[in-house]
Amino acid sequence: MRLFLAIVLAVFLCLGDAFAQSGRIPVAAEHGMVVSSHHLASEAGMHVLAQGGNAVDAAVATAFVLAVTLPSAGNIGGGGFLVYHGADGHTTTFNFREKAPLAATPTMFLGEDGEIQDNSNHEGMLSVGVPGTVAGLVLAHARLGSLPWADLVAPAVVLAEEGFPSTRAMQGFLQMLTRADDPLYHATRAAFLKDGATVYAPGELWKQPDLAASLKRIQREGHDGFYYGETARLLADFSAEHGGLITLDDLAAYQAEEQAPVHGTYRGYDIYSMGPPSSGGVALIEMLNILEDYDLEAMGHNSAQYLHVLTESMRRAFADRAEHLGDPRFNPDMPVARLLSKSYAERLRTSIDPGRASESDSSRFAALYAAQEESEETTHLSVMDRMGNAVSLTYTLEHSYGSRIVAKGTGFLLNNEMGDFNPVPGRTTSRGLIGTPPNRVAPEKRMLSSMTPTIVAKDGKPVLIVGTPGGRTIINTVLQVILNVIDHGMNIGEAVEAPRIHHQWLPNVTSFERLGISPDTRHLYEALGHTVRLRGTQGRAHCIAAQGDLLYGAADSRSYDGRAIGF
Ligand code: DON
Repeated sequence: MRLFLAIVLAVFLCLGDAFAQSGRIPVAAEHGMVVSSHHLASEAGMHVLAQGGNAVDAAVATAFVLAVTLPSAGNIGGGGFLVYHGADGHTTTFNFREKAPLAATPTMFLGEDGEIQDNSNHEGMLSVGVPGTVAGLVLAHARLGSLPWADLVAPAVVLAEEGFPSTRAMQGFLQMLTRADDPLYHATRAAFLKDGATVYAPGELWKQPDLAASLKRIQREGHDGFYYGETARLLADFSAEHGGLITLDDLAAYQAEEQAPVHGTYRGYDIYSMGPPSSGGVALIEMLNILEDYDLEAMGHNSAQYLHVLTESMRRAFADRAEHLGDPRFNPDMPVARLLSKSYAERLRTSIDPGRASESDSSRFAALYAAQEESEETTHLSVMDRMGNAVSLTYTLEHSYGSRIVAKGTGFLLNNEMGDFNPVPGRTTSRGLIGTPPNRVAPEKRMLSSMTPTIVAKDGKPVLIVGTPGGRTIINTVLQVILNVIDHGMNIGEAVEAPRIHHQWLPNVTSFERLGISPDTRHLYEALGHTVRLRGTQGRAHCIAAQGDLLYGAADSRSYDGRAIGF
């Protein structure tokens, strides 16, 4: 640890104010950039780059440190997606989304009355999907990494073992744990509370010995150090004891997958993003295709007319998302090529009235989504190395701190990603249930996601790395950051900071970030027939732009401990 800290400090001292970032003024650097939701994670990634590692190496190290320092979302007990664009033009993605256990069924959350029992799709062991993060990071490193695996896990091991200052952002969770009496959360209390009982104050040194031991097994044995052996046994035993479905067979069967990105074009740029089982890339490209024919620059950023066409493209893409998308292995006939096509976008565009909001046509299903605000607890990191290789990685536990369950002896939180499946087959309600077939539970199926790690390229070189947390708002946040740069000429700091909106077809409401858009604009927008709801912040986008010989990093000021670090 001392060596790691000394090197980080030395690089800091040499580079002076390369690290200063202030909202709209991005960090500029020549040789490499890491942007993540925790400064220690960005530092670890930057250190890997400074040692000569490539973007995948740095992303792996950053992701492992986030599993230690940002337990609300950073994880080894969850899953996610990595999108890669090499300086040589090679593009690929890694799909490490969680899977339903082998014993899962479409009605596994329902009681005899046909109703969801005890919120079991979101809480308790049934809500836990088979974790994918470790398999995904191992696979990405095996295919594209360059430094030794053990070196990339090392900073996380050190921080778990030797501790780091607990953060203010964790206080709410820790307070909640002091009141959690259910034996299901005993190991969580042991991992997160001082002597299993009291809250670590912000700044107090917090050590995680069980997590360090789990990480060391991964450091030594890679994939097998998580999916076989001690960690697997602890996880399977705990699951059996607490009514879960995850067995040793589930863990042994889990594999991450490398798959082609979804690809689109927008005003001469190439867009590479995550395909199903994420809905993000398809919906993003569909919206960009619709918007390409409008003169968005002339409309003006966040003018009422601009927000109107944005909303109408969101409405259409989210309707398609709900109707068509799920895990491709279980939905071989998804019309992805059609949804990505310019001709389909043109058809959708002709249905947009410039002077009037359309209806959200719910006749296909009942209302699909509740109006509840999306939590921001997923996390995104962006990396670019000195060669010009780029990584965009988003991963999650689903809710903040996931299921809040730690299997005894493992030290890490488990996801509650099973809640992303449609829980009641055939039933869609205005309260937010959706029962359409593509995303129903099945053994070894991956649940539909909105995570949208994206890389924008020009002439075969990555120029923008974009991503964010925020549930379904993710797709719209990524869209707006890209439009802010390409159409509105913003630098990446301005593009990340600019106020955002969100519409998801149903409910037929547009959320505006509070204080973000003027009442005058809002009134003009409402006069077109839209309904507005104000909300808190939307997303925490951590992004990079490459321009000329420089890299520009922007950590979203909506993030507590986020940091862009370049060198
Ligand atoms: O995969 C998804 O789309 C979600 N599980 C992501 C969750 C998220 O961003 C935070 N809160 N809902």
